[in-house]
Amino acid sequence: MTQSVKLVAGNWKMNGLGASLAEAETLAKALKEQAAACRVALCPPATLIDRMAQALEGGVVEIGGQDCHAEASGAYTGSVSAEMVREAGAGLVILGHSERRAGFGETDADVAAKVEAALAAGLEPIICIGETLQEREAGQAVEVVSRQVAGSLPASLAGKAFAVAYEPVWAIGTGLTPTLEQIEEVHAAVRAAMIAKLGEGGRAAPILYGGSVKPSNAKEILAVAEVGGALVGGASLKAEDFLGIIRAA
Ligand code: G3P
Repeated sequence: MTQSVKLVAGNWKMNGLGASLAEAETLAKALKEQAAACRVALCPPATLIDRMAQALEGGVVEIGGQDCHAEASGAYTGSVSAEMVREAGAGLVILGHSERRAGFGETDADVAAKVEAALAAGLEPIICIGETLQEREAGQAVEVVSRQVAGSLPASLAGKAFAVAYEPVWAIGTGLTPTLEQIEEVHAAVRAAMIAKLGEGGRAAPILYGGSVKPSNAKEILAVAEVGGALVGGASLKAEDFLGIIRAA
């Protein structure tokens, strides 16, 4: 079952100083004038959450973090806890992005622990999964994402607000996207894995698609069965591009 109200979230990654803050304000203003038919969220770097939350206060744009530590506090130099992300003004948090899995060695178990921390802090996690090009070419995409869902989603998620984002690693920032049939196949498998893990509690959460989403392909991707929204990287940095995707939802 696909949720009727879609979630379109922008992941700014390590971008956003100066110019993109202005883009966020332009976006918020445009969305005030023209009510969006979907939920809209922006996930800036941790240091910008507070400023962005203040700038967008009272509007419809939600704010998210891009990561959090699994522990509540302690000697973890350079890290931020879920509670800190929440306190800065975020309501959501992206977890297990492939750039963190690949660049920081995060495992499914690490991601599940972070999800627990996010839930404890009252954050809505967006849990990322997705196969590499090598895995796709070996015909293992469904197997890989099913395994990631089983390992990255703790049982405590059942009944909570959360989203899963299917982001094929080879489609991120490359301009390449899977065919609509491939997206449909993987999303159906992800839903089945969510239900296998969480029972009925795995039926309602949206499954976002991420990877080279832009205004020109958003409409057809968002119309695929079980696509409950989009997680957008590059195209979320420009208000005009992000608005084009929001309009498609
Ligand atoms: O989390 C979003 C992402 O990884 C997709 O990035 O630039 O391909 O839209 P992009």
